[in-house]
Amino acid sequence: MKVKALILVGGYGTRLRPLTFSTAKPLIHFANKPIVVHQIEALKKAGCTEIVLAVNYKPQEMIDAMKKYEEKYQVKITYSVENEPLGTAGPLALARDILGADETEYFFVLNSDVICEYSLDELLEYHKNHGKEGTIMVTKVDDPSKYGVVVTQDGKQGEIEKFVEKPKTFVGDRINAGIYVFSTKVLERIELRPTSIEREIFPLMARDKELYAMDLKGFWMDIGQPKDYITGMCMYLSSDKHLRENSQHFAKNPEDGSYKIINESTVLLGENVKIGRGAVIGPNVVLGDNVTIGEGARVTRSTIFESAHVKEHALVKSSIIGWKSSVGKWSRIANDTVLGEDTHVSDEVFVNNVKVLPHKTVGEDILEPGQIVM
Ligand code: GDD
Ligand code: MG
Repeated sequence: MKVKALILVGGYGTRLRPLTFSTAKPLIHFANKPIVVHQIEALKKAGCTEIVLAVNYKPQEMIDAMKKYEEKYQVKITYSVENEPLGTAGPLALARDILGADETEYFFVLNSDVICEYSLDELLEYHKNHGKEGTIMVTKVDDPSKYGVVVTQDGKQGEIEKFVEKPKTFVGDRINAGIYVFSTKVLERIELRPTSIEREIFPLMARDKELYAMDLKGFWMDIGQPKDYITGMCMYLSSDKHLRENSQHFAKNPEDGSYKIINESTVLLGENVKIGRGAVIGPNVVLGDNVTIGEGARVTRSTIFESAHVKEHALVKSSIIGWKSSVGKWSRIANDTVLGEDTHVSDEVFVNNVKVLPHKTVGEDILEPGQIVM
């Protein structure tokens, strides 16, 4: 038996701008490795031998960046490049010759922007046992209106009665986690044209009683927009997955007490990070490789990407600081602010819920939320 996988990578990642101006969404680091690498690791663990990346934007960048991971994880990665966006189902038809070939019996499909405890081996086991065409992983959320909602007979896992994408009125709070496993037979339902799996395929599979739900254990988040990325980061940093996989990179309080880490296991450090005297870091912080934190600076609930510099006495709170950017002395960056690549905030400036496009400088306070500096 062969198991393959397809990751839905396409889309412009508009909601993660300005980061996606520099890098395709799946390559953006989450907890110091590309989002897609978290998924490749999980797929490999579940026995996948070949992974198709369904791309329609910047394919060459993906291809170049993924080479080393193909070697590292010893898994074949193929690129299926769309001439026009084929939606969330069309890419399965485009990759039919791979997904349906060499005695493949099952394949996983993942949205590229979901992060969780991916219990993919459990999902596959469950799917094999019920023997129908598809299984969706589901999770509970407070606001189901942004997602696909799954309704089952008794509100438990099992046969799906109804699938409603982005419902306008409340139908339930158990949602599609963007992680599926299918028997290859499902390919017979999908035509090669732009198609939404959520709007056009799942409702029919539910009608035919060929679609099952399995409850996901542990945390889950769609990290496709800044606020959710930060929430997802916090969930991840308190998860078992993080404790299991990253313990060698947890920040430690220095013996000389020169700076302070709050909740060490929720602070993840890249290589060659420098932290100045009197700085206070944590909880829930990820510092990428070559990040510098100046004396007396304060960083909490934030991700700082590779080679960025937070200068003396600055505060970074609930924000994302892009690659090679700098935050000036005594400045304050807060409230889901995202600084793109190579941006610079001058000294003594307050930036509140702002997106700053790559290579820009912020020279004065921006207090009104929701602004874009371009
Ligand atoms: N190859 C390809 N081509 N991929 C695409 C295309 C396309 O034309 N359009 C979207 N994708 C990819 C996106 O990059 C993403 O990984 C995935 O398909 C889902 O698209 P999103 O735009 O992120 O959808 P969403 O977040 O609004 O909703 C989806 O995810 C939710 C869970 O996060 C749906 O699947 C919902 O039902 C689900 O609850
Ligand atoms: Mg999404």
